[in-house]
Amino acid sequence: MCGIVGYVGEKRAQGVVVEGLRRLEYRGYDSAGIALVHDGRLAVDKRAGKLANLEKAIADDELPPASVGIGHTRWATHGPPTDRNAHPHPGREGRVAVVHNGIIENFAELREVLEDEGHELISETDTEVAAHLLEREVSAGVDLTTAMQRVCRELEGAFTLVAVDAADPSRVVAARRNSPLVVGIGEGENFLGSDVAAFIEHTREALELGQDQVVTITRDGVSVTGFDGTPAEGRRYHVDWDLSAAEKDGHDWFMRKEIYEQPRAVADSLLGRRTPTGALHLDEVRISDEELREVDKIIIVACGTSFYAGMVAKYAIEHWTRTPVEVELASEFRYRDPILNHSTLIVAISQSGETADTLQAIRHARTQRSKVLAICNTNGSTIPRESDAVIYTHAGPEIGVASTKGFLTQLVACYLLALYLAQVKGTRYGDEITEIMDQLEAMPAHIQTVLDNDSAVYELARSHVDTRSVLFLGRHAGYPVALEGALKLKELAYLHAEGFAAGELKHGPIALVEEGLPVLCVVPPRGRDQLHDKMVSGIQEVRARGARTLCIAEEGDTAILRYADELIPLPKVPVLLQPLVAVVPLQLFACELATALGHDVDQPRNLAKSVTVE
Ligand code: G6P
Repeated sequence: MCGIVGYVGEKRAQGVVVEGLRRLEYRGYDSAGIALVHDGRLAVDKRAGKLANLEKAIADDELPPASVGIGHTRWATHGPPTDRNAHPHPGREGRVAVVHNGIIENFAELREVLEDEGHELISETDTEVAAHLLEREVSAGVDLTTAMQRVCRELEGAFTLVAVDAADPSRVVAARRNSPLVVGIGEGENFLGSDVAAFIEHTREALELGQDQVVTITRDGVSVTGFDGTPAEGRRYHVDWDLSAAEKDGHDWFMRKEIYEQPRAVADSLLGRRTPTGALHLDEVRISDEELREVDKIIIVACGTSFYAGMVAKYAIEHWTRTPVEVELASEFRYRDPILNHSTLIVAISQSGETADTLQAIRHARTQRSKVLAICNTNGSTIPRESDAVIYTHAGPEIGVASTKGFLTQLVACYLLALYLAQVKGTRYGDEITEIMDQLEAMPAHIQTVLDNDSAVYELARSHVDTRSVLFLGRHAGYPVALEGALKLKELAYLHAEGFAAGELKHGPIALVEEGLPVLCVVPPRGRDQLHDKMVSGIQEVRARGARTLCIAEEGDTAILRYADELIPLPKVPVLLQPLVAVVPLQLFACELATALGHDVDQPRNLAKSVTVE
């Protein structure tokens, strides 16, 4: 949510900053802006709308050849997305410029104080107060670093701030509290970014910052302090992906590229999880086996697509470990005063590791002495840093706003966690765990088989351009898949799409069914239980009322043939693992239908990839 870039070095800052913003645009695209420092003056350009609008403006305005600059791409919180509310925001005399991600909660009080002092604030943002406060400090004679430390001590809420001072072209200064910021370390140049994508084409050496820290970058150095000025150290790390991972690679959308990367992402997330003796081991589980054996309840907290991964996890964990699991929207969790203690394990699932609702949920859980295990795709992000244990997914950077490979790799991590708990608690024999691991390791090939059948799904999607409403039905682990399929369609095609548990249909949703309504049905594999047959009954019920049934079912499922107006085959896999293949046609469907409708698939309206405000 909001992308931030800072640069100081020998190159022309304009190019570096705009390129960085392009790679961060998925974080927000309501407006974009840049501020450069040259010859003791600030040059600021900013425009409502996507980055392309700013680029056009820059081409006309001819900005100076500065080598220090900051930039911003916005997801609006305070004030509508206008030119005036776009960042950077200058201070009173136009000496300091600031970009910001997050929400300054006490901005109204601070604004009042400034206005009483005669400051005129012209935007509706919370950010502008920070610009005025910083400029007040540097005008009084302190350097920008000290000014930032002082101002941050006055601010409440969540924020990343990055600032430049026209009178000091040697440095860019930034601060973070509960919002993301990383430093890129180059030679004769240094960078700041909301994430490493901002500078990945220049350097893969990064510095992770802690909470409540101020960082100053110059051409030759990086220094970190706390808000109180005491020296601090960041954690240096090497980014293990490169520029090509942040490019579209011949695809029209990042999302489409990421869908096709799923076999690889799933395989990478499974890599190295078994010891030579066949036992499972996970990344950074700083919770002892003894503590895990004492866990008597698991609560999964997550948002959006990650929440649906959590719903699938519940089926797997309860089945394999016999430990009760609750799955809760992170935004609801702490407000209902959940019953937690030291034997409750919280599992936080977050692709970005920065989602504010999920972060606040784990902070609450830790105050209640519960242990927290994070499932996350972003090394160095806040949620894993504040957790007791982490399972990293290895999806590589996910740039399309709608999550795809993030989801599949989260499912893998959830299965691994469930099996690990089963191993520790002794609820499954070693050979059973080995058998399930073998089945999991066969999944990349099965996902590839589904992708190889993409043209049938694409054709189906294109035949639905006039559709205004689609229902999704699923049962058991297929129920969250139905919810995820509906979410994808809402996010990308802006259609009314609803997912239901097929058994619940007759208790209300069936009233929505009318002649010609497309109903996408995720059919469970045939097995010893009655899941499959019950699903078939549900499909018959909607078809009898005029629905067009689009069925996603195991190949060779002859029982479904009579009731399916369209049939997308899936490879034969165990029911608990079926979400890994069943969701793929739904992703392809949403991506293609949105493309046919002329929508921007990578930047759907009103959304942001990483939601860093509550
Ligand atoms: C946003 C994104 C979703 C994502 C959700 C949770 O709403 O648009 O795609 O599923 O945040 O994000 P997280 O990074 O915590 O998984």
